[in-house]
Amino acid sequence: MTADTMPPQMFSLSEEHQAIRAAVRAVCEDKVAPHAADVDEQGSFPQAAYDALRAADFHAPHIPEAYGGAGADALATCLVIEEVARVCAASSLIPGVNKLGTLPLMLAGSEQLQQQYLPPVARGESMFSYCLSEPESGSDAASMRTRAVADGDDWVLSGTKRWITNAGVSDYYTVLAVTDPEAGTKGISAFVVEKADEGVSFGAPEKKLGIKGSPTREVYLDSVRLPGDRIVGDPGTGFRTAMQTLDHTRVTIAAQAVGIAQGALDYALGYVQERKQFGKVIAEFQGLQFMLADMGMKVEAARQLTYAAAGRSDQVAPDLTFFGAAAKAFASDVAMAVTTDAVQLLGGYGYTRDYPLERMMRDAKITQIYEGTNQVQRIVMARQLLAGVQSRL
Ligand code: CAA
Repeated sequence: MTADTMPPQMFSLSEEHQAIRAAVRAVCEDKVAPHAADVDEQGSFPQAAYDALRAADFHAPHIPEAYGGAGADALATCLVIEEVARVCAASSLIPGVNKLGTLPLMLAGSEQLQQQYLPPVARGESMFSYCLSEPESGSDAASMRTRAVADGDDWVLSGTKRWITNAGVSDYYTVLAVTDPEAGTKGISAFVVEKADEGVSFGAPEKKLGIKGSPTREVYLDSVRLPGDRIVGDPGTGFRTAMQTLDHTRVTIAAQAVGIAQGALDYALGYVQERKQFGKVIAEFQGLQFMLADMGMKVEAARQLTYAAAGRSDQVAPDLTFFGAAAKAFASDVAMAVTTDAVQLLGGYGYTRDYPLERMMRDAKITQIYEGTNQVQRIVMARQLLAGVQSRL
């Protein structure tokens, strides 16, 4: 095949995906961006963003049409999250965590469980959180202590979950708990817990560096009795379901990171073309041009890796585990670097809350930490490489 007969390899978005991006961007610029600074300053849930996303059906776009959702594929869901994060990272956790919380049901839950819990999320009546981490169990997720004990047909859950995004606001929670302490990762099971279940309560909101509009609280389970049909999949399959879920949703964190980085780059590009020093706009200085070039290059590389991972998420490709971890680690490192450079480009102004960049820099930091630290992502990638699972060209 010669160069002129080769099909063009544009790796560009389809017209449909471009239209989704344009539609989300319009909603975000109009109805989400105006509240971003206030939500951060007050540490308040971004209700206006939730309302706007619900009105446009962007609050949980991944839910299949069969359950009343928009049926967006993984790439479209990433575009939604990226565009929301571009203006308000805290608000992007609404579609992000709705996917994280519900995906275990979609991957492993019974039809009855999906029929019961997906439609209210699709309708925007309820949100869904994910409870894996505990005070003593972070990167070592398998060391969790929350117990679920069978009692007749019921399960009784006791324990504490920590760092739970949107806790208290969400009506529903996927909770991972030990059902067989002798069986290691094969003794962990997943359950749906409702906020209204007796024995469920929440800790005080964490005082965080960033994503202040997204509540992060502990979830306390005090002998919470669940009917037997609230288990997600078979007993003992919970850890695998939790890891499979993260394979998909690390891609959405990558999208969030790309959005934060793009928002910072866009703002910095506008600023350097207006700010004058030494008698000319600072965009004319080559030193700053090199910074801008590096920022743009990194954002685009992160975006391409994220979209490639999203494609694998749709196909549940064998190398999704590698790509999810790679996209998450790479894009979040890019978000941190690009937002830090964007603050630098604004100088003293970038360091103040009168401009959005210090917020974006604070928000970027969490993307290197949650859904598995970037050190854990490297463990995941290395294991995939050494096992020969990651695709070879
Ligand atoms: N898919 C399917 N199965 C998987 C899997 C995957 N991606 N990863 C692991 N498993 C299976 C393994 O095959 C293994 O099964 P077998 O025994 O049958 O082989 C079993 O699970 C145990 O796997 P490992 O031996 O690899 O387990 P480990 O204890 O060494 O842990 C780890 C691996 C990657 C470090 C994992 O503990 C991990 O990902 N830690 C980070 C936890 C994390 O990401 N927490 C984020 C919380 S959610 C959050 O942050 C949400 C938010 O706020 C927005």
